[in-house]
Amino acid sequence: SDTDLSAYKRSAALTALDYVKDGMVLGLGTGSTAKEFIMALGTKVAAGMKLRGVSTSRETATLADRSGIVLLDDNDHWPIDVAVDGADQVDPSFNLIKGGGGALLKEKIVAVSAKQFIVLIDYTKRVPFLGKTFPLPIEVISFGWRNTARAIEALTRSRVVLREQAGAPFRTESGNLIVDTHMARIDNPRELDAALHHIPGIVETGLFIDCADVLIVGTPQGVETYHA
Ligand code: A5P
Repeated sequence: SDTDLSAYKRSAALTALDYVKDGMVLGLGTGSTAKEFIMALGTKVAAGMKLRGVSTSRETATLADRSGIVLLDDNDHWPIDVAVDGADQVDPSFNLIKGGGGALLKEKIVAVSAKQFIVLIDYTKRVPFLGKTFPLPIEVISFGWRNTARAIEALTRSRVVLREQAGAPFRTESGNLIVDTHMARIDNPRELDAALHHIPGIVETGLFIDCADVLIVGTPQGVETYHA
């Protein structure tokens, strides 16, 4: 059940606290697992730790504020020590699919900017290969999006679905659209990501290749930590 999974997310989040040191600048991810981590950071701040952060969404900014983390300005240069985020799928090479919550663009900028990127998941998100059980989210500019979606369909030979929310197209915080691409099996995520980036209109993909430095997995047997 969901309740069980949230316990695994929380145990992974608590383990990630070991990587947090006083004075750090943290990249703060988005989603239910990142939320557990940000709430746990609140206890560190309450105990006297000084932490600053960069937020990957408005939702996360609110949580960070509640935890007493000072947020850096969007327009500053960020010296991010550690970024921490969830993921939708993780393959055996620690490649990820992200973007289930629609925050993938900011999440990727923050993850790539960090000296160390830590990914927190419950055990159900580990997969033998990316795709199949989770559609790949791709952020596209709204101008000409139907043509961009066609180009994605032609490249991937997969069904592409415009993400909606409450009956209207879902808009990202950067004002773009998300198309969810239902791929059977992503054999070569690096090649796919490179090919997608050649399509004009694609702003960013939910493929996070060679980004994760640490993977922390909450499982019924306890927490497992892997260093890439
Ligand atoms: C947000 O856009 C996503 O990339 C999330 O990080 C991802 O969907 C994981 O979310 P949960 O931790 O809620 O499963």
